[in-house]
Amino acid sequence: MGERLSQLLINNYLADLDRLRRVSGANRESVVREAFKDLLKAWGRSRDLQFIPEHEYITPAKDRRYIDGALLHDLRVPFGYWEAKDTNDDLDDEIAKKFRRGYPQTNIIFEDSTKAVLIQSGVEVIRCAVDDVENLQKLLELFFGYQRPEIADFCKAIAQFKLDLPAVLKALRERIDAAYSESKPFAAAARDFLKQAKETINPAVADADIREMLIQHILTEDIFARVFGEGDFHRENNVAKALYALERLFFRGDVKQQTLHALEPYYAAIRSTAALIQSHSEKQAFLKAIYENFYKVYNAKAADRLGVVYTPNEIVRFMVESADWLCEKHFGKSLIDRGVEILDPATGTGTFLVELLEHFRGRPAELKYKYLSELHANEVAILPYYVANLNIEATYAAIAEEYAEFPNLCFVDTLDNTDALRTHTGQHFGDLIGGISTENVDRIKRQNDRKISVIIGNPPYNANQQNENDNNKNREYAEIDRRIKATYIRESTAQKTKLYDMYSRFFRWASDRIEDDGIVAFVTNRGFIDKRNFDGFRKLVGQEFNDIYIVDLGGDVRDNPKLSGTTHNVFGIQIGVAISFLVKRRGASGHRIRYGRRPEFETKEEKLVYLHNSDLEHAAPDLIHPDAKHNWLNLTSNDFATFLPLATKETKAAKVPGQERAIFKLFSLGISTNRDEWLYDRDRKTLEKKVRHLIDAYNAVSAKEKNVPNTLKWSRNLKRRLARNQRESFSAKRIGRASYRPYSHRWLYQSVIFTDELGLADELFPPTGKNQGISFSAPGSRTDYCVLAIDGLADLHFGAAVDGYQQVTRYRFSDGQRIDNIADWALAEFRAHYGDKAAITKDDIFAYVYAVLHDPVYREAYALNLKREFPRIPFYSDFRRWRDRGRSLLDLHIGYEAADPFPLVRTDLPDERVRATGQTPRAILKADRDNGIIVLDAETQLSGVPAAAWDYKLGNRSAVDWVLDQHKEKTPKDPIIRERFNTYRFADHKERAIDLLRRVVTVSVRTVEIVQAMRAAPR
Ligand SMILES: C[S@@+](CC[C@H](N)C(=O)[O-])C[C@H]1O[C@@H](n2cnc3c(N)ncnc32)[C@H](O)[C@@H]1O
Repeated sequence: MGERLSQLLINNYLADLDRLRRVSGANRESVVREAFKDLLKAWGRSRDLQFIPEHEYITPAKDRRYIDGALLHDLRVPFGYWEAKDTNDDLDDEIAKKFRRGYPQTNIIFEDSTKAVLIQSGVEVIRCAVDDVENLQKLLELFFGYQRPEIADFCKAIAQFKLDLPAVLKALRERIDAAYSESKPFAAAARDFLKQAKETINPAVADADIREMLIQHILTEDIFARVFGEGDFHRENNVAKALYALERLFFRGDVKQQTLHALEPYYAAIRSTAALIQSHSEKQAFLKAIYENFYKVYNAKAADRLGVVYTPNEIVRFMVESADWLCEKHFGKSLIDRGVEILDPATGTGTFLVELLEHFRGRPAELKYKYLSELHANEVAILPYYVANLNIEATYAAIAEEYAEFPNLCFVDTLDNTDALRTHTGQHFGDLIGGISTENVDRIKRQNDRKISVIIGNPPYNANQQNENDNNKNREYAEIDRRIKATYIRESTAQKTKLYDMYSRFFRWASDRIEDDGIVAFVTNRGFIDKRNFDGFRKLVGQEFNDIYIVDLGGDVRDNPKLSGTTHNVFGIQIGVAISFLVKRRGASGHRIRYGRRPEFETKEEKLVYLHNSDLEHAAPDLIHPDAKHNWLNLTSNDFATFLPLATKETKAAKVPGQERAIFKLFSLGISTNRDEWLYDRDRKTLEKKVRHLIDAYNAVSAKEKNVPNTLKWSRNLKRRLARNQRESFSAKRIGRASYRPYSHRWLYQSVIFTDELGLADELFPPTGKNQGISFSAPGSRTDYCVLAIDGLADLHFGAAVDGYQQVTRYRFSDGQRIDNIADWALAEFRAHYGDKAAITKDDIFAYVYAVLHDPVYREAYALNLKREFPRIPFYSDFRRWRDRGRSLLDLHIGYEAADPFPLVRTDLPDERVRATGQTPRAILKADRDNGIIVLDAETQLSGVPAAAWDYKLGNRSAVDWVLDQHKEKTPKDPIIRERFNTYRFADHKERAIDLLRRVVTVSVRTVEIVQAMRAAPR
């Protein structure tokens, strides 16, 4: 835990103690002990330890004792104990007395509100006065730092499990495959099961999925039987029964024992941990641990794809309480009232339902009805499905003191269950026939017939996979994706809107599923709040719902690299998180958005403590008035919208010039090769060799191949092209000089097949055509703005690896013809504004635009606009002067290699030792800005770099830094490139690099002069 939070908690404790003493007028144990209890609770929460008051403890002599409090670990083994005494007692006498009565001595704090004593493994470790902040902190840290041997054993067992599992999985897979060919009854039953699974879960289920289900079933069977031995809920469950039946056909007795033998140490650790698990809440959290740990070890990819992460209890409780409050506020009903049906569509371990049951505690009659008829949950993976089933049934049994099967848990793919949406989409997908078990089908049908009022949960939100070689793609969902296209995407103005990630799909599904009056409460990725491509989503949510509440928990590491996922994100991930509540009221019109944002650097623990102590009304206090473009945050009110658009989707798509309403007709994202190491090179010859190799490797793969070999880097597009048997032969004509990074040209092979997204590359910069253009930060970029003139194709990641870059060009090409890319409409607009006398040409416009994009006043005033949309160009008063500035900048930037070298002073200090070994000096390529020095390698440096040179920035780097960066020796990621084509050595390029640096310093200094002069210029 952070220093800040621990001190805050101790200070709160001392203040509480003081207050309680004053209020109670006495130091009575029962009153003042509350303060220490709260301290332990809060500290424990930050470490996922749960505080249980009056903890029942069975002594070794089998006597029952009640300890004032216990903190329980994730695995529900007691982690530590606390015993409070009266100030008037003699604390040491009391300690001795308790130990005689069999109290645990493993890790226990005794305190009497004046002093505290910590005993670990029977030995006193520290004692201090409670107002001795420093020592109290030490005591608590020791207490919370304790590791019980059982936990250590469990962690060891998991490590062992990781090692043994692959062999066991292989054996199990082989057994199942063998059963298909050897056992007719098994093959028939499996076929039947598959048919049913396709209908119930989703049509994409295949034999391999059935096999995986069986494996999950087999591996967890033993664990559940041991932990929940007595009740054996597992064997009662309808889906489990079907899997048992299948399993029995091929996997029994000795065969089973032998196969699972390797996992025995793991099971043994679980057995010993399970033996210590007594109460219901302990079992519940044990299941959570199994859910996350087991799944991640068993199948990390599936765990990521499905979002197998449990939801911290503070979030679940906050959402349940808030949903109840909203229900009351907007519909005059509580969640427990009849007719309010609640569904968790991605239930995981069932935490939301468990919390709802807790929430309804104390109202037995209503609770029973709710449980049997109006609480619903879905899960698509077998292991969580079992866990949820156990968890929900065990919680109900503990609260209601009677066991009742939970009849509303469905084994189903929610997003594929579009039958449930038929009333809204007008689609009817035919009745489900058959099923994993008829009971499961009945359950799904029953759920689909219900009017659901509240949809609550934590749907999965893994972003699209990063790398096609992962083969971990999200499935496609035809119907939901069609709905997304017809709504969120249709209403978006963004160029390439991809909103098929899992959380958008769940939002779409839930919005369609909820009827008239209803609430959707989800905790998800926070991107929808302010990402540009979610503008259509924001617009639609405003139309489909009437009251929107958002608690923005931040923690987006990609937006703010200073954050850390583990420290600042409530799920410990890189993607920011938000909780949203969308309320739809029958007959209501208009919508109100309420929003609250947690401080950027608040830690995960602080956020959870906040949610624990807050409520929705306070957590989302600000009323948001979206602007016309459906922005919710960072609203701008300025005249940007009145300027001339640089480029628009509409003008790009216009069929006739008369429809064009932007300066440039075509624009395109930079080229996205997805295999830069193969398609770019400094050296033309090496590039040719690489491309020939690539073509051969690709041609060696048949179009029918399902499992492509790892002989080259695949991507979805390349796999598609292979399937279509698209081929390409080498052509030297496709090599062009590209603007790869600022002030760093490379040779590029403009391949139609191997370039992942060619965009309009061939129209803007055909390899043999001459052209000029401007590359600029695409809307949504995270790094600082970047604008630069280019004379070859710009790369998608021109100014930063994490961002995309757009480009507009002076000309475009069609069938080998060069055509003007500046619209006649724009020329007419400029002429109308400045008058015919100005005799403005399209070249003038190009230069003028380039000047405006460098204007520091413009860049500052419209910074937020430029982050969100394409530039728009204002008419400044003195057109000629601005055009001339633009021309000077264009000449400088396009012609940078011919700029005068800046007189930097070169110093060489030969490194004799290295020379004696025949090696070249080590490349360093670093700048020392404060002293105006550039260090090239262990021998050479340049000095006298003027301070202004560093001020010329393209994104987050100065021009000089770009040159240095692009000359570094980097180890190629691709092993084939690394071994066969990695010929780059800085030493071979050193002299050219020095020459280039001198010229780029001149360019930088001149650019800064021009830009500075702009500041004072009239506009
Ligand atoms: C983030 S977890 C839910 C965690 C849960 N609230 C808890 O605390 O245990 C998401 C769960 O949804 C399930 N899931 C993913 N896609 C699903 C789908 N299409 N239909 C139903 N469940 C799905 C995953 O298997 C996973 O268990």
